[in-house]
Amino acid sequence: MSTSGYGASHVAHHAPGEHARLGTLEAAFDPGTTRVLAGLDLPETASCLELGAGAGSVAAWLAAHRPRGHVVATDTDTRFLRFPPTAPVRVVRHDVVTEDFPPASFDVVHARALLSHLPDRDRVLQRAARWVRPGGLLVVEDLCVQVVDSSPHPLLRKVAEAGERLFRATVGTDLRWAHALPRRLRGVGLRDVRVRTTPGTVGDGGATDAFWRATLDQSAPAHLAAGLLGPEDVEAVRALLDTPGFTATALTMVTAWGRRA
Ligand SMILES: C[S@@+](CC[C@H](N)C(=O)[O-])C[C@H]1O[C@@H](n2cnc3c(N)ncnc32)[C@H](O)[C@@H]1O
Repeated sequence: MSTSGYGASHVAHHAPGEHARLGTLEAAFDPGTTRVLAGLDLPETASCLELGAGAGSVAAWLAAHRPRGHVVATDTDTRFLRFPPTAPVRVVRHDVVTEDFPPASFDVVHARALLSHLPDRDRVLQRAARWVRPGGLLVVEDLCVQVVDSSPHPLLRKVAEAGERLFRATVGTDLRWAHALPRRLRGVGLRDVRVRTTPGTVGDGGATDAFWRATLDQSAPAHLAAGLLGPEDVEAVRALLDTPGFTATALTMVTAWGRRA
C-alpha cells in the first residue's frame, strides 16, 4: 500500500465506500464518455488502453463495443477490475507515472479522472500520446472546479475550495489542470483536437449530484481532521443540496481528444 499520494488518500481503493463512490462517478460520467468513444473512428479490431481504469466500466464498454479487438485495463490497484472470462480485457497492474508501454501500441488510449491526480501529469500526457499509433486517438477527461468560483452560493464555494485544498494536500491533485486540456493535447502533438464538457449539476437528485454527495461523504472525515470544514459546514451543505428547487453546477468534466499525426 502506498504511503503517500492517491493510494494512501481518503479515496484509495481500500477506503470504505470507495467502490460505491467510483460507481457514482461512472453513473455520472459514462454517458458523456461513451458518447465520445462511440463517435470515434476506430477499427473493429481496435487495441484499446484504459489507464487508471478504477471500477472498470469504460474498459467493459470498450470490450463490448470492440469484441474483435482487445482492451488493456490498468490501475495501480486492480481489485475492482473484474470482467467475464470471455471479455477481451487484460487487467494489468501498472503505474502510469513510472511504467511504460512500447510506442505506438494502441489505436485508442483513454484516461478519465486520472491525470489531474498525478505528479508530473504533463509528462504522463506526453508519454500516453506516444503509446497511440499514428492515426489513433488519445482521449483525456478530468474534473475541474473553475465553474464554482463564480457560484452565487458562498457555502458551495467554501466546500469546493476546501475539497480542492484537501485533494491537493492529500493526493497532489490539480483540479484546474483540465480547463486547458485542448491546448495541452495540441502541445503533445495531437491533431483535430476536440472538446466537450459535462456539467456537474448538484441538487437535482441526478447522477452528478449523487457523485458529488458520495465524494463529500467520503471526504468529510478528512475535512474535519484537517480543519478545512467544520461539522456545521458539512451539515449545512447537505441541507443546501436537499433544499427544494436548489441546483448549481459543481465539478465539471472536461473531455478532450485528438489524433496522433
Ligand atoms: C478517480 S479514479 C477514476 C477511475 C476511472 N478512470 C473512472 O473514471 O471511472 C482514479 C483511478 O486512478 C488510479 N490511479 C491513481 N494513480 C495511478 C497511477 N499512478 N497509475 C495508474 N492508475 C492510477 C486509481 O487507483 C483510481 O482507480
